[in-house]
Amino acid sequence: MKEKLLELKVRALKDIESITNKEEMDRLRQYYLGRKGALTSLLKGLAQLSEEERPVIGKIANQIKAEISEKLQPALESFKIEDAEKKSYFDVTLPGRRIPLGHLHPITQTTEEICDIFIKLGFSIVEGPEVELDYYNFEALNIPKDHPARDMQDTFYISDNVVLRTHTSPMQIRTMESTSPPVSIIAPGKVYRPDSDISHTPMFHQVEGLLVDKGITFGDLKGVLTTFVHQIFGADMDLRFRPSFFPFTEPSAEVDIRCVVCHGKGCRVCSYTGWLEILGAGMVDPEVFKIVNYDIDTISGFAFGMGIERIAMLKTGLDDIRLLFENDIRFLQQF
Ligand code: PHE
Repeated sequence: MKEKLLELKVRALKDIESITNKEEMDRLRQYYLGRKGALTSLLKGLAQLSEEERPVIGKIANQIKAEISEKLQPALESFKIEDAEKKSYFDVTLPGRRIPLGHLHPITQTTEEICDIFIKLGFSIVEGPEVELDYYNFEALNIPKDHPARDMQDTFYISDNVVLRTHTSPMQIRTMESTSPPVSIIAPGKVYRPDSDISHTPMFHQVEGLLVDKGITFGDLKGVLTTFVHQIFGADMDLRFRPSFFPFTEPSAEVDIRCVVCHGKGCRVCSYTGWLEILGAGMVDPEVFKIVNYDIDTISGFAFGMGIERIAMLKTGLDDIRLLFENDIRFLQQF
């Protein structure tokens, strides 16, 4: 029996040395030390031994058991560590997680592009309130209460004397009220009109322009706006100044560019005229200068206003203005 025990010990220690994984280790532990393991079944033979032999063999058996356990211990430890390492394993070869990076909204991009052109021409930027007094939005711009000219711009009224501004022209008055000539400003911002269809949204954006000094003529207006059109639509873009009317400019004009879709042949987009309107302009009406106490005998000036969405749509070929405000990432990503 003693030989059998020693033989078992040699075999166990040899087996333990060749362990390569935790499963193998568990299996060996079961096999040698488990309740139904090899050692236990050997010790069942103890009963047949003599009184003297039994404690001797029992002691040897206990020593072997301890030795095997001891030999298994380092393997157990190392597999524990390996397990823990597996759980926190960091794969340095995995590609990094991309942090999605946004970009400016097409309206902001277009606003900046327009402003940059006028800044290079010497204009500076001013901003003003979107909730505006009726006085600045209409009256001071030569549009009296109950005058039919108010029909040109449907209006959201907050109260009798307060409106959501329908255009950026109130900034002409606010600027001239607080500054003496010369003045050269542009005023970008949101404006509001109760309108909603494929080419109108209740909120949209405009850029206003105003230049006042001694001796400013319609020739200056044409020069500045021609430069602008060539900068934003390309140097070969055709444009025309068409007579028009605004209560706060006299004479007034609208600027058209050659249709970007049919290049002048005539199509649905340009209503078969070959031209697309892009902005309103004119020489500041002396009535407006009087309201801000500018001397109409010594100074003159011009003003203009354009819809930013319209410019953005013509530049990109977009045919439904509402897409700009639905905030669908798939749409916005294209700009
Ligand atoms: N405010 C006018 C509009 O919204 C545009 C304009 C501005 C016309 C300045 C002339 C001068 O239609």
